[in-house]
Amino acid sequence: MNGPATLTLTRPDDWHLHLRDGAAMAAVAPHTAAQFGRAIVMPNLKLPVATTAQALSYKERIIKAVPAGMDFDPLMTLYLTDNTPPEEIARARDADIVALKLYPAGATTNSDAGVTDIRKTYRTLEAMQRAGLKLLVHGEVTDPAIDLFDREAVFIDRVMIPLRRDFPALKIVFEHITTQEAAQYVAEAGEHTAATITAHHLLYNRNAIFLGGIRPHYYCLPVLKRELHRQALVRAATSGGARFFLGTDSAPHPAHLKEHASGCAGCYTAHAALELYAVAFEAAGALDKLEGFASFHGPDFYGLPRNTGQVTLAREPWTPPESYPFGDGQLKPLAGGEPLAWRLRV
Ligand code: DOR
Ligand code: ZN
Repeated sequence: MNGPATLTLTRPDDWHLHLRDGAAMAAVAPHTAAQFGRAIVMPNLKLPVATTAQALSYKERIIKAVPAGMDFDPLMTLYLTDNTPPEEIARARDADIVALKLYPAGATTNSDAGVTDIRKTYRTLEAMQRAGLKLLVHGEVTDPAIDLFDREAVFIDRVMIPLRRDFPALKIVFEHITTQEAAQYVAEAGEHTAATITAHHLLYNRNAIFLGGIRPHYYCLPVLKRELHRQALVRAATSGGARFFLGTDSAPHPAHLKEHASGCAGCYTAHAALELYAVAFEAAGALDKLEGFASFHGPDFYGLPRNTGQVTLAREPWTPPESYPFGDGQLKPLAGGEPLAWRLRV
């Protein structure tokens, strides 16, 4: 294989991560801390992280779950509900909480407490706009009449465009985009709108879910889309555009709940996140664009300093394990047991 033997980058950050809690968190937090300087931690615990006090206590538990000597800074978010009081926003800002997460009620894992009608949150969104807190959006409508594969594109028309119009100065991150429509929307939406893109949406299209039998470890939400969408995401991620950045959406579930009649949504990628992105960027001939996407665009959009350390990826083929211990169960990482061309030197 041609191409560089090593690639040194400014230490990257993960702008969209699920760490869970308790024994599950203890199993996965070291993977993320080994790769990333910071991560935006999603608030969709079984009991949603809906107040500043809950977020601060969760942050302490995260810090305890990171092995001593690892330099890792969790960035905290709150779960936006129909009833989040506007007064919570000043408390959140004073506690360095960076964002609120909008889950349309019923859209995904632990989203039952999510927003039923965006208009119910408008006073809180006004307070966020004033305070400079970001809004992170799970961009799918929940209307059962809309085909599952169309829910992101319909969300743009029904929710994003009106929201953008009503809060022109609110910084919005369209999380884990999966479609050409979302990539194009974000590219054209102006300086206050950005998007995260996962490694799995860059590497796979929806065939991966069905190849040779149903493969639950490739099931996440928003679900993988057809190839033309994957290609549009690769173009956006490798474009050098400053409003596209890395967010793994690494979302661990015990294997027995994914290999199930009604399996949970979520792909686990934190064990080899940067390596998986490197494979996707190299396949597009764009390894030179990985550092901006992984290490610069996120902090620039969030108004945070870039990290100062470095990490090195080596072209050193290895095979990640098929499973990791995960509390009482097992965790099956995406593409576990398959050879991977890049390895992060730690
Ligand atoms: O696949 C997903 N898993 N999508 C989400 O939006 C949530 C996540 C989770 O928490 O498991
Ligand atoms: Zn997520």
